[in-house]
Amino acid sequence: MAKPHSGWAAVQKNWILLLLIVFSISTIVLFVYRAAFDSCEPHSDVSVGKISVSSSMGSSENPLAFMRSRNVLMVSHELSLTGGPLLLMELAFLLRRVGSQVIWVTNQKPSEGNEIIYRLENQMLDRGVQVLPAKGQETVDAALKADLVVLNTAVAGKWLDAVLKEDVPHVLPKVLWWIHEMRGHYFKLEYVKHLPFVASAMIDSHTTAQYWQNRTREKLGIKMPQTYVVHLGNSKELMEVAEDNVAKRVLRDHVREFLGVRSDDLLFAIINSVSRGKGQDLFLRGFYESLQIIQEQKIQVPSMHAVIVGSDMSQPKFEAELRNFVVEKRIQDRVHFVNKTLTVSPYLAAIDVLVQNSQARGECFGRITIEAMAFQLPVLGTAAGGTTEIVVNESTGLLHLVGKDGVTPLARNIVKLATHVERRLTMGRKGYVRVKERFMEHHMAGRIAHVLKDILKKSGGKSGS
Ligand SMILES: *[C@@H]1O[C@H](CO)[C@@H](O)[C@H](O)[C@H]1NC(C)=O
Ligand SMILES: *[C@@H]1O[C@H](CO)[C@@H](O)[C@H](O)[C@H]1NC(C)=O
Ligand SMILES: *[C@@H]1O[C@H](CO)[C@@H](O)[C@H](O)[C@H]1NC(C)=O
Repeated sequence: MAKPHSGWAAVQKNWILLLLIVFSISTIVLFVYRAAFDSCEPHSDVSVGKISVSSSMGSSENPLAFMRSRNVLMVSHELSLTGGPLLLMELAFLLRRVGSQVIWVTNQKPSEGNEIIYRLENQMLDRGVQVLPAKGQETVDAALKADLVVLNTAVAGKWLDAVLKEDVPHVLPKVLWWIHEMRGHYFKLEYVKHLPFVASAMIDSHTTAQYWQNRTREKLGIKMPQTYVVHLGNSKELMEVAEDNVAKRVLRDHVREFLGVRSDDLLFAIINSVSRGKGQDLFLRGFYESLQIIQEQKIQVPSMHAVIVGSDMSQPKFEAELRNFVVEKRIQDRVHFVNKTLTVSPYLAAIDVLVQNSQARGECFGRITIEAMAFQLPVLGTAAGGTTEIVVNESTGLLHLVGKDGVTPLARNIVKLATHVERRLTMGRKGYVRVKERFMEHHMAGRIAHVLKDILKKSGGKSGS
């Protein structure tokens, strides 16, 4: 066999193969960390300090290098394949890479053994992260000794009193509270009463940070500590696929074959767990409307398809509503439902446009948006939440309003991208440039480094052990 591509290394080939296998049997991969699902749940997604670092950070020297031999304790509210815990694990591994001592505790664990927890814990142990029980003297000592304690999600606040008891005040000045939630029910004193006294809070987008400022003041009568906005970055693994044209081609063909669509059909996809908050219902209405516009105006476009990646049976009523709509409008051959998956690369390689249709206050951040942009996809997004901080209207995508008022604008935007091929491709390329400029893992590491430095300075930064 000829070997024309020197960059097409064996390792990479195996990796693509693995992705394909994983895709084919739709199981769960543990090596692709991502956080696109439920980004406003106590799971989820990460931007630049409100008043902080410049976005173009040199990548030559690791910005976290100063964390070498520092002791860090991470408190996760749970351990599962959801955005929040996986993101904290990413941070744990970034810190391990520069030689920090990292200890991990999971506050809420099911009483009996759990396969996923077992695998995730093993993965941490393999990378030298020490795993301790949530409670007990050893854990309290670790908290007292740590240079930094990272509490992940608002709900993790319950750990403080329950475990540290009278030692709470000693630990608070070195706590970084990483918050990903934007729903009313997390605004409970029970969770966040210590928030004003921690060193800093870190929040995934400016919109979410403002929301927290308002709600804590108006609903709970407490004041936020110094708050940094830290946007997320794309993992190296994702970028590897996104920047490999051969891999993308293979995945694209494979997924299209699986979906039963041709290579020149146009695919618009939502990749989010199916729920009303993510707006799949309004997307389908917009998609249907766009088909009508095309038919009425006799516009020449390739065959168009809607793909909904993120079905599971946790929302049977909503899921049934979506499927009924499709049957009622007789668009079964144009709408494809795909089960929820953590492996999104194959789908990003296969589609032409990402739709980010999250409703109400939108996404806290919306990691799938930067992932799609890495694959040079234009984004049709709601003008809400983190999306407005990622997508530049008319440049890297087109924004529409949330709610029913957004359906017709979305339909028109779908038609626009279907008819203006050159514009669509240009938007995708601009999105990619934007991601390379500010939404890469090294940018995220740089932003987090800035926050950690400030905290160490504030808390006296006593060095480890
Ligand atoms: C926060 O409150 C201010 C003033 O009350 C308001 O203008 C702003 O829109 C609010 N922001 C959010 C995100 O709710
Ligand atoms: C999708 O999920 C449903 C329910 O969880 C399951 O019955 C079905 O087999 C899954 N489909 C595929 C293709 O894995
Ligand atoms: C996006 O830009 C277009 C063109 O300037 C404008 O008509 C539209 O209202 C903008 N959308 C949002 C949601 O800002």
